[in-house]
Amino acid sequence: MQHRIIPQPNLLDYTDGICPAERAVPVVETDEAMPPEGYALAVRPDGVTVRCKTPQGLFYAKQTLSMLQNENGSLPCVSIQDAPRFAYRAFMLDSARHMQTIDEIKRYIDVAARFKMNVFHWHLSDDQGFRIECERFPKLNEVGSFRDGHGFGSSDTSRYGGFYTKAEIRDIVSYCADRFIRVIPEIDMPGHTKAILASYPSLSCRETPIAVETQAGVFRDILCAGKEEVVSFCCDLLDEVCELFPDEWVHIGGDEAPKNRWRQCDCCKDRMAKAHLDSFEALQGDFMNRIAAHLRTKGKRAVAWNESLKSGCLDGDVIIADWMDRDKLCPARANAGGEIIAEDFFHYYLDYPYAMTPLKKVYTFDPLPEGLTEMGRPGVIGVETPLWTEFIEDFEKLCKMAFPRLLAVAERDWTYEENCDYADFRRRAEESRPWLQSQGVVMDPQSAWDPKGLSRLKKLLAHYKKTLTRDMLLSFFSKKDD
Ligand code: ACM
Ligand code: ZN
Repeated sequence: MQHRIIPQPNLLDYTDGICPAERAVPVVETDEAMPPEGYALAVRPDGVTVRCKTPQGLFYAKQTLSMLQNENGSLPCVSIQDAPRFAYRAFMLDSARHMQTIDEIKRYIDVAARFKMNVFHWHLSDDQGFRIECERFPKLNEVGSFRDGHGFGSSDTSRYGGFYTKAEIRDIVSYCADRFIRVIPEIDMPGHTKAILASYPSLSCRETPIAVETQAGVFRDILCAGKEEVVSFCCDLLDEVCELFPDEWVHIGGDEAPKNRWRQCDCCKDRMAKAHLDSFEALQGDFMNRIAAHLRTKGKRAVAWNESLKSGCLDGDVIIADWMDRDKLCPARANAGGEIIAEDFFHYYLDYPYAMTPLKKVYTFDPLPEGLTEMGRPGVIGVETPLWTEFIEDFEKLCKMAFPRLLAVAERDWTYEENCDYADFRRRAEESRPWLQSQGVVMDPQSAWDPKGLSRLKKLLAHYKKTLTRDMLLSFFSKKDD
């Protein structure tokens, strides 16, 4: 027997018979012994029973039932006991480089919810745009939400931008809550802040006016970590952001922050002396800790990209987003009791072509980093799949990049290794096509899912194994292959 359920349930047995459509209405029984997101499903010829502890468990049982259903509404008789491998099953969307409409974001959320993901990490501030309506700092919208040009290699220099209103953001948060999805906003700092600095130049070390960035990359102009004014700005901004996002976690970035400006800045050096910090990386740790401390006073926890661990002094309760951890600081953090989200660049970044990250590579990757001890393993709380949009301007391309790879991540998030089977997953992904199409989501044909590597790309990856940066790959993909 074959079904088209994604993610594959962790325990599924077929029993004899069919439950006709008129009897396929589930009777729900609350079972306090079930795991919070788990459910048990019994489909018999005379009816359907769902056992679960929470409304979230019931929601997942319903997703499974809708994928089990035959075209005439009948159900094959089965017994399912299911619960996720990871508690944190996330998708990240970059709405800073290119924006999506609220309707498009809802469609993306609908797909993620169907495949039992439960966290939406929303990247809303970067060098190329600030995307949240802000009353306390109006220039973030007047200046920081717009750039002169679509950018990223395009010759179109017309004004591009906008921001999501508070009402739109509340609508998305409530839409997600109805689907048991948490929303974690990201305000990236101290790097990736050119849109903020274009709005308020006094927040930089040099205070020189700059424009909102129009190209992809990592830029030297970042927030000054020495001025008290910057810390208060970030805390005030986060206060306003937190009013919109009720989730307990807030992502404060911390990736790709070059220290060139800090090295030349008296304010930064004064802070280092005052706080007894022995390096500019430690200054970043100090900065992140000050912001995390403010969030703590509001009952919130900070999430940060793994570069912030280089400081050696990041507070232990900051959750680490592990995207490119060359120094292997993430397993050490988990082994010491910290929490890690696995979002490996080479496997889970959906904005790179299938030639670099084929479906099979996504699916067969073990999300647990090497070097975890038995004690450290539960520190990896889940998996996240980011989608950056420097080179993704429209929803059609976004969908092609995301699907079916996001489905592969959703399965690896939920299903234990021993129940994962790539060939069977490919078949089920293909069988998801009609439902995805009904949501306006178009996938490329199966022949595009596992292409042979591009010759130039293979050479690049082999040559720069240890030193490859996102910048180099972005520039590679803006050129044509030979
Ligand atoms: C990142 O990709 N810079 C987190
Ligand atoms: Zn400075």
